[in-house]
Amino acid sequence: MKRIVFATGNSNKLRELREILGADYEVCGLRDIGCDDDIPETADTFEGNALLKAQWVRDRYGVDCIAEDAGLEVDALGGAPGVLSARFAGPGHDSRANNELLLRRLEGVADRRARFRTSLVLLRADGPHFFEGKIEGDILEAPRGEGGFGYDPLFVPKGWTKTFAEAGAEEKNAVSHRGQAVAALQRFIESENKSR
Ligand code: IMP
Repeated sequence: MKRIVFATGNSNKLRELREILGADYEVCGLRDIGCDDDIPETADTFEGNALLKAQWVRDRYGVDCIAEDAGLEVDALGGAPGVLSARFAGPGHDSRANNELLLRRLEGVADRRARFRTSLVLLRADGPHFFEGKIEGDILEAPRGEGGFGYDPLFVPKGWTKTFAEAGAEEKNAVSHRGQAVAALQRFIESENKSR
């Protein structure tokens, strides 16, 4: 069985990928390979950051790697917070502070259009393979819902009336940026398996 590292410390993301690739790959997390490096995310695109993470792991640990980067782009803010989504209000990764700052920046702004975007990369000896996902929606004027994480309480997907934080995990994953990128990776692996 091929070993692959998913460059994440998030056990939910790891479990999800194991469910998807489990038959073909032994999927490990960063902890499993003894990596607690503070991997730099200094690129100015999601794709660039995902590749930086995957290259860091492959170069130092010699294993194939999957990495992802995601965030929120708000049209009226010129695409911010974008790659700075996790640390919009400062380095603490504090979702409440990030959401409050977002609402302040959008005070009095009528155009609330935004999207979540994910770039996922599979880096192997044959090079990087990229998979993308995005979901369009609008930013509310006040948070709603207790589920999800990050900007979920402020984000209503196009065609929905509830926020991602008011939806169940399954309902969110069926349409979300991450769900789309992971599904594209899954199709790629399946098509490779078929042509073997
Ligand atoms: P990550 O790359 O998945 O860790 O996401 C980086 C940051 O983007 C998170 O810390 C959140 O602030 C934001 N973000 C990414 N995906 C989502 C989502 O599905 N819901 C809410 N916020 C998200």
